[in-house]
Amino acid sequence: MKSVVLTKQDSPLKIEDRDSLEPSEGQVIVSLKASALNRRDYWITQGLYPGIQYPAVLGSDGAGVVSRIGANVDESMIGLDVLINPGLNWGNNQSYQSSDFQILGMPGLGTLASEVLVPAENVCPKPEHLSWSEAAALPLAGLTAFRALMKQGLAKTGDTVLITGIGGGVATFAMTFALAIGMKVLVTSSSDEKLSKARSLGAAAGYNYGTDDWGKQLKSEHGMPNLIVDGAGGAGYGVLLNLASPGGTIVSYGSTAGAPGKVDLFKVFWKQLRLIGSTMGSANDFDEMLDLVSRHNLRPVIDCQFEMENITDAFEQMAESRQFGKIVVNQPV
Ligand SMILES: NC(=O)c1ccc[n+]([C@@H]2O[C@H](COP(=O)([O-])OP(=O)(O)OC[C@H]3O[C@@H](n4cnc5c(N)ncnc54)[C@H](OP(=O)(O)O)[C@@H]3O)[C@@H](O)[C@H]2O)c1
Repeated sequence: MKSVVLTKQDSPLKIEDRDSLEPSEGQVIVSLKASALNRRDYWITQGLYPGIQYPAVLGSDGAGVVSRIGANVDESMIGLDVLINPGLNWGNNQSYQSSDFQILGMPGLGTLASEVLVPAENVCPKPEHLSWSEAAALPLAGLTAFRALMKQGLAKTGDTVLITGIGGGVATFAMTFALAIGMKVLVTSSSDEKLSKARSLGAAAGYNYGTDDWGKQLKSEHGMPNLIVDGAGGAGYGVLLNLASPGGTIVSYGSTAGAPGKVDLFKVFWKQLRLIGSTMGSANDFDEMLDLVSRHNLRPVIDCQFEMENITDAFEQMAESRQFGKIVVNQPV
């Protein structure tokens, strides 16, 4: 099998031939048609992730065809077109993941390869309306956005949601899902071009978080949103506390911009805010996300696509946060 291998921190990614994988009981091999990047993959290349083990085959997102199965796996799975739920061992509690929870692609071998080994329960039929690239773009960011918005954020039709950093993979899915269920969507970005792309996809308004008074402007034009979905944290988190409506919810699924600056607890208790975290999602959440995608014929926003041999260019695109939506890596046909 061909794999993109990271041998140590900051070293160039190499494409290597490795031994084929063998499925054990309950496992399947998916021959991948496409994979997609997440910020996590980039952070691992920078050594900024807990428990990194080398050599590593990165990648959590993938879609392909089940080519081989282990014992006690239904033979009808062979030849199925699938996408992969990258959350391994979530456990039975819908509120949070078990202590055995892992994400495909670290410490185990990931999807930036021609094939990947996963538990049979982690593959789901590919929604028919999606291409291979679209299917590969969906799993990790789609699942994270779905849980953050719908489960932790209790999103409701007709409500207003503010989604920060709309260029991000998770953020674009949150926007897609929120629009599909009939929410009013406001967004932020560092890029006016990305803001205008978001408006063209249905966002009601966009604000550049690099400007001083974007929060005031948003409030005067659209009032205070009752739901905020944030993957940035950082100094801008204080603005979100100002902006959330009384009784509102701020869901945090990431901290790309680092630790929040000063958190004004007075605002939290006086406005009766719900501040809640969200990480990926359960198998149930994954099924519900796929159901939403299929019912509304939703398609991931793909920024750009690379062939596996150009993997370094794909990581550069992410390093500079140039993307609007997902970065896909296709396998040779
Ligand atoms: N909890 C989980 O399960 C989970 C799952 C996936 C990702 N994450 C985390 O969520 C974050 C986003 O992940 P991703 O894969 O969507 O990454 P991504 O596609 O690389 O998106 C990152 C985006 O963050 C935005 N950003 C950067 N600084 C910002 C700031 N100060 N304020 C607002 N937005 C800012 C930028 O948006 P603009 O380009 O529009 O400025 C950038 O495009 C990462 O921290 C990641 O580790 C967590």
